[in-house]
Amino acid sequence: MNDKTASEALAVRASGVGKIFPAREGDVTALLGVDLEVRDGEFVSLIGPSGCGKSTLLRLIADLDPASSGELTIFGKPARQARVDQDYGIAFQQAGLLPWRTVAGNIALPLELHKVDRTERASRVAELAELVGLTEFVDRYPDQLSGGMQQRVAIARALASRPRLLLMDEPFGALDEMTREYLQSELARIAAETGAAVVFVTHSIPEAVFLSDRVVVMSPRPGRITHIVETDLGPNRDETLRESPEYFDRVTAVREALHGAPVERANER
Ligand SMILES: Nc1ncnc2c1ncn2[C@@H]1O[C@H](COP(=O)(O)OP(=O)(O)O)[C@@H](O)[C@H]1O
Ligand SMILES: [Mg+2]
Repeated sequence: MNDKTASEALAVRASGVGKIFPAREGDVTALLGVDLEVRDGEFVSLIGPSGCGKSTLLRLIADLDPASSGELTIFGKPARQARVDQDYGIAFQQAGLLPWRTVAGNIALPLELHKVDRTERASRVAELAELVGLTEFVDRYPDQLSGGMQQRVAIARALASRPRLLLMDEPFGALDEMTREYLQSELARIAAETGAAVVFVTHSIPEAVFLSDRVVVMSPRPGRITHIVETDLGPNRDETLRESPEYFDRVTAVREALHGAPVERANER
């Protein structure tokens, strides 16, 4: 593989990425020297304390903000070009659905914006609704859906243009624990079915471990990557995994990485 092909095979490549927000009281260094490679089809979570720059890193990848330093490429392209080419879909904690549009209408939105014709749009919407388990609900309006169902719509919408990369910022953060675990399983299945790479921001250690191939641990400001935990849990992300010794072991590894030292047993009680 030559260098160009190698970098195209990477969904995300950040090298020496920094972000400074200028402020009257003094500049805020949100990110410092971030090096990260996300392989095509890989699921990577970003975890760390509040304010450590997780959302900022995701926003740089999505070209919603420019980096202050370093280099960032998405499938070998500058972030701006990747945005134009719709190489990624994005989903946030708030589903952000249009209340006056049905489920189908919300999922179809990006397809309409990109002038996909009506027939193709209808079949793609049906396919996406099926993928996220909402076939029965396509004619409902957002306020007729639970929070979990609204997030499914947001995921379907993010996947509408078949992106090879999905960027998610605490998408399940506002959901109750049971719905959250259910949607984690659903997302694992969806990621496997679509083959999309995912960069997933979360506060939750179990969530990060359950979903990810690798968990990227970040330090408080200035946000830096301090550890990367390879989960090595295989492709089967089902409910039995949550009770396996390997899973507990990785949860402990991420927790220790976050705390910067082995967690004392006494703290666990
Ligand atoms: N637009 C902005 N202007 C100024 N400071 C910002 C802006 N966005 C984020 N920050 C600061 O950058 C740091 C990282 O924020 P953020 O990426 O949202 O953290 P996280 O998502 O990990 O909680 C925080 O200190 C935050 O206050
Ligand atoms: Mg955030």
